[in-house]
Amino acid sequence: MNRRSIILGCGSYLPDQIVTNDELSKRVDTTDEWIVARTGIRQRHIAPPEQMTSDLALKAAERALEHAGVAASEVDILILATTTPDQTFPATATKVQSRLGMTNGAAFDLQAVCSGFIYALSVGDNFIKARQAKTVVVIGAETFSRILDWEDRGTCVLFGDGAGAVVLRSASADDLEAEPGETGHNRGRGILSTHLHSDGATNDLLYVDGGPSSTGTVGHVRMNGREVFRHAVTNLAGIVGETLEANGLTSDDIDWLVPHQANKRILDSTAKKLGMPSDRVVVTVDRHANTSAASIPLALDEAVKDGRIKRGDLVLMEAMGGGLTWGAGLVRW
Ligand code: UT7
Repeated sequence: MNRRSIILGCGSYLPDQIVTNDELSKRVDTTDEWIVARTGIRQRHIAPPEQMTSDLALKAAERALEHAGVAASEVDILILATTTPDQTFPATATKVQSRLGMTNGAAFDLQAVCSGFIYALSVGDNFIKARQAKTVVVIGAETFSRILDWEDRGTCVLFGDGAGAVVLRSASADDLEAEPGETGHNRGRGILSTHLHSDGATNDLLYVDGGPSSTGTVGHVRMNGREVFRHAVTNLAGIVGETLEANGLTSDDIDWLVPHQANKRILDSTAKKLGMPSDRVVVTVDRHANTSAASIPLALDEAVKDGRIKRGDLVLMEAMGGGLTWGAGLVRW
């Protein structure tokens, strides 16, 4: 059997400050009723100005390493998925690397906006499969509040700040032992497959109107919400189907769907297409809003720590974001 990665531990971090919809309605022309009805979002966490993406990422990574029982000195590769790096360069991942006390290997940032965690998970998994690494930390961390136009009600109500991380480790022979009833190439624990897509022809549906080589400014998020919504529903159904087919599984086999948390209506639509009951979908969008690359590891950590996701469960993660980018990962926990 080929080498495989298992998720050994996870961790997450949210800034202390919570901003409710009612508070936002004092800044822009919106209401709690509109935001809840159209998105399912009730509140979001917002980082104070002195707290940067690296601070959030560091806390999530420390918690994931502790949960995994792995020392920073054992980490070969650290990948940080983010759209909101502390600076244009160096990579925010290198700041996290040094503050973790990770002295070996390499650290780098990865940019796939809201699909960033799935992309980083896939890259980390492939480092392990290629035998270039034994232990990989994958982080999704964002201070998305910094790139919002706080006068644009169509976007500023949708996003929040936060971070989540997982520790990947090359699977041992024990990890790959089949559970009773498991057959075929997808038996045993670990990441069974990852699937990535992008379509640059749709750049203009969701983007930031600034950057170092265009305007020289950081810029703000601009989105054609209705079109992004339409693409999300189609692309996510497609990627979920592709993942199930690649593994010879059906939606009945999936124990937990851990989707990117952009909009409750998108989550419901994907679950409905899969025929999955809502109690098998992990939902945090009501409390975290859309934290971009951080949303999946935040949701995963919550469901692992509260005991919903258990050893042996099949967990399907999917995301779509700016680019457009989209992707999925299937893991036997
Ligand atoms: O992370 C991945 C990327 N992001 C997404 O997946 C987001 C995808 N899109 C969405 O979630 C939804 O399109 C939104 C939540 C952004 C918007 O919902 P919608 O049902 O598509 O609304 P809409 O954009 O068609 O706007 C409907 C109305 C408009 O008013 P008019 O033109 O009908 O008079 C908007 O101006 O709602 C208005 N509106 C608001 N009203 C109150 C837009 N934002 C707000 C607001 N409060 N915050």
